[in-house]
Amino acid sequence: MSDLARAGGHVIGFAATARRDRWWIGPLLTVLGLGGFAVYATWAAFQGSYYFHGAYLSPFYSPLLFVNPAAPGSAPLEHAWLGRWPSWWPSILPASPAFFIMAFPLVFRATCYYYRKAYYRSFFGTPPGCAVGPVPGGRYRGETGLLIVQNLHRYALYAAIVFIGILSYDAVRAFFRDGRPGVGVGSMVLLLNPMLLAAYTFGCHSWRHLVGGRLDCFSCDRQSAMRHGLWRGVTALNAHHMQWAWVSLFWVAFSDLYVRLVSMGLIRDLSTWG
Ligand code: FES
Repeated sequence: MSDLARAGGHVIGFAATARRDRWWIGPLLTVLGLGGFAVYATWAAFQGSYYFHGAYLSPFYSPLLFVNPAAPGSAPLEHAWLGRWPSWWPSILPASPAFFIMAFPLVFRATCYYYRKAYYRSFFGTPPGCAVGPVPGGRYRGETGLLIVQNLHRYALYAAIVFIGILSYDAVRAFFRDGRPGVGVGSMVLLLNPMLLAAYTFGCHSWRHLVGGRLDCFSCDRQSAMRHGLWRGVTALNAHHMQWAWVSLFWVAFSDLYVRLVSMGLIRDLSTWG
C-alpha cells in the first residue's frame, strides 16, 4: 500500500476514488496524444526518406548532419552540415538523418515538468489523478533514484533554444526556392513551427528561473528591472505551458507529415513557385 492511498483515508485500490467527476478523461487523452505522437515520430524517424521537398525540410530531420542522396525524397548533398552519409553507420539501422538529432528534443520533452506530471499519471498511474488510488505495490519516492535524471531538463533547455534558432533558419529558407523568393503553404507551416516551439520553450519553468530567479529585489537596479520584465513575459507563457506543449507537439508532427506528403507527391503544395 502506498502512502498516497492512505493519506486522507481514500478508498484503497488502483483507480479507486470517491471523486465523482470524470477524472480519467485527462489521463486517457494524454495516453492517446503522447502515444500517437510517439508512434508517428518513431515511424517517421525510421524512414530516412521523403523529408525534403524544394525548400522544405522536415523539422524531424533538422539539423541535417549527413545526407544519403540515394534515398528518395532526400535533401541535396549541399544541405548536409557534415557531408555524405558516413560509411561507419551500422547496416542494420536505416540511414536516417533523424537518428543523429532526435535525442535532444526527446530529452527536452521527456523531462519537461508538465509532461512529467502527465505521463506519471497516465502511463505509470502513480497515481492516475488527485485523490485516486495508485498502481498497487508501487512505492512513491518522488524523483529520486532513476528519476533523478529528470534534472537534465535545465541542460536540455539550452539545446532546445539552439534548435529553435536552427528551425527558424529553416523557416526562412522555406521562402526561397532555387534562389527565387516566394511563399507556399509549406512555408507557412514551417514558419509556424518554430514560433509555437518558442512559445512552449520560453514558457519553460527552468527558463523562468534562469531569467528571473535568485533575485531579492525587482526594482533595485536597471538589470533587475529588466530581468523582472523578462520574467513577467515568461510567466505569461508559463501560465499556458500545457497548451503550448500540446499545440507545438502536434504542429511539429504535422510539419513532418506535410513535407512528407508533398515530397511523396501525394498532395500538391500551393505556392507562388507554381
Ligand atoms: S518545464 Fe516544460 S519545457 Fe521546461
